[in-house]
Amino acid sequence: MNEAQDVQSVGIHFPPGIPDKVTAEVSRIAQMFMVDGESLRKITDHFVKELERGLSDQDSDISMNVTWATKYPTGYETGQYLTVDMGGTNLRVCNVVLTDEKGGYEITQSKFKLPKGLKTGTADELWAYIADRVADFLRDHNLDQGDEKLPLAFTFSYPITQDKIRHGVLQRWTKGFDIEGVEGHDVVAQLEAAFEERDVGVRIVALVNDTTGTLIASAYKDPEIKIGSIFGTGCNSAYMEKCGRVPKIADYKLPGDQNVAINTEYGAFDNSHKALPRCQFDLEVDRTSPRPGQQTYEKMVAGLYVGEIARLVLIHLHDTVGFLEGADLTRLRRLNSMESSCVSKMEEDGADTGSVMSETKAILSEQFGIEPTLQELRVCCLLGEIVCTRAARLYACGIAAICKKEGLKKGRVGVDGSTFEKLFRFKSRAAAALREILEWPDDEEDLVTFVQAEDGSGIGAALIAALSSEG
Ligand code: BGC
Repeated sequence: MNEAQDVQSVGIHFPPGIPDKVTAEVSRIAQMFMVDGESLRKITDHFVKELERGLSDQDSDISMNVTWATKYPTGYETGQYLTVDMGGTNLRVCNVVLTDEKGGYEITQSKFKLPKGLKTGTADELWAYIADRVADFLRDHNLDQGDEKLPLAFTFSYPITQDKIRHGVLQRWTKGFDIEGVEGHDVVAQLEAAFEERDVGVRIVALVNDTTGTLIASAYKDPEIKIGSIFGTGCNSAYMEKCGRVPKIADYKLPGDQNVAINTEYGAFDNSHKALPRCQFDLEVDRTSPRPGQQTYEKMVAGLYVGEIARLVLIHLHDTVGFLEGADLTRLRRLNSMESSCVSKMEEDGADTGSVMSETKAILSEQFGIEPTLQELRVCCLLGEIVCTRAARLYACGIAAICKKEGLKKGRVGVDGSTFEKLFRFKSRAAAALREILEWPDDEEDLVTFVQAEDGSGIGAALIAALSSEG
């Protein structure tokens, strides 16, 4: 059996002792989450059209942001750069020295957990927090150079409109952020104002998306890398395009064969609801999110949402067919209380048919106060498999769409993000789906493969700063 296809192709095997009404409802839900090869190909074809529309001036759900990162690194970039990465959970500050040796670098870093409340606080609190952590970092690492300001590359992984590399207007918040006063404004100017107020000795020289950083950092090590992708809290990809194929920047009169990295922002794919098979649980995830109607694709696949989808399915089964009968679901009913890693663990735990599912039992007991029977644990495991399989298969559509649009027959995709590493069988499932979509012959090895990316927001951002200072 192809392990990547599991519930998709071989159907569900319920353990004995599960009431019929529960098995019937789980089977119905499995059907809802099933996306066969034909559907994947249709979704991808629509995806390709949207990528193309995004490069033109036509309306598209996908904004295809021009990043102004216009070169691949040669390995001979040099210089010292501070980098700041404002991720969904952490803030990472690095001092990156690109050394004279080909491909060489040294890196020192500090990570800070973003305080609770910052994601929905005020703009002043956000910029002050970042500026203070950078000031701490300079002090702790003796990097303050008096009047000479250190160049800083800022990885800000949200959709932004850029007309140059050190500028970017936030189009909209994603990944559960909801901070007033930033959308529609240049985030570089806002952060620089906070640096100035505190007299922090840095100047922002590049504004970078995590996908672009991943593309450049990965290509630095491996010239076969054609796409930089993130599969973590959010989901998105970047690739190198020729300026001549980006009608919306025709006014800049750039040479047609000049490269420019495009941050697709394809998490917003299908916001107009024409292609993706959304089910009742997807609608509910969207309804309770801070930005309903946005990031439709991301909400069906990315790490921030996989746990939430599984949580809603569990509650639905309890409320409609008495699954987990008698359990107190108060804690499970809390919005976003289940992390994607938890769903993945459930599935992994049950993958061995002889397992007593002790990890899943511990998670449900400790985090939610639920004490399921072994049979119920097996159903939880099946649900994990159903939700995670769909996520991996739909994730492959975005990558396949870039390959089809670019006529890319062979290459590697550098993928970063906590969920990519942690989600059980994610990589093999995504690879199997890519094969189905791109219809490679059975006797052919995978032509486009997923590999673990290099450090995009540290090394990648520093490289982009170095490359853009070359003019
Ligand atoms: C953001 C992208 C980012 C992705 C992965 C999405 O929510 O809009 O800019 O690349 O998450 O972090």
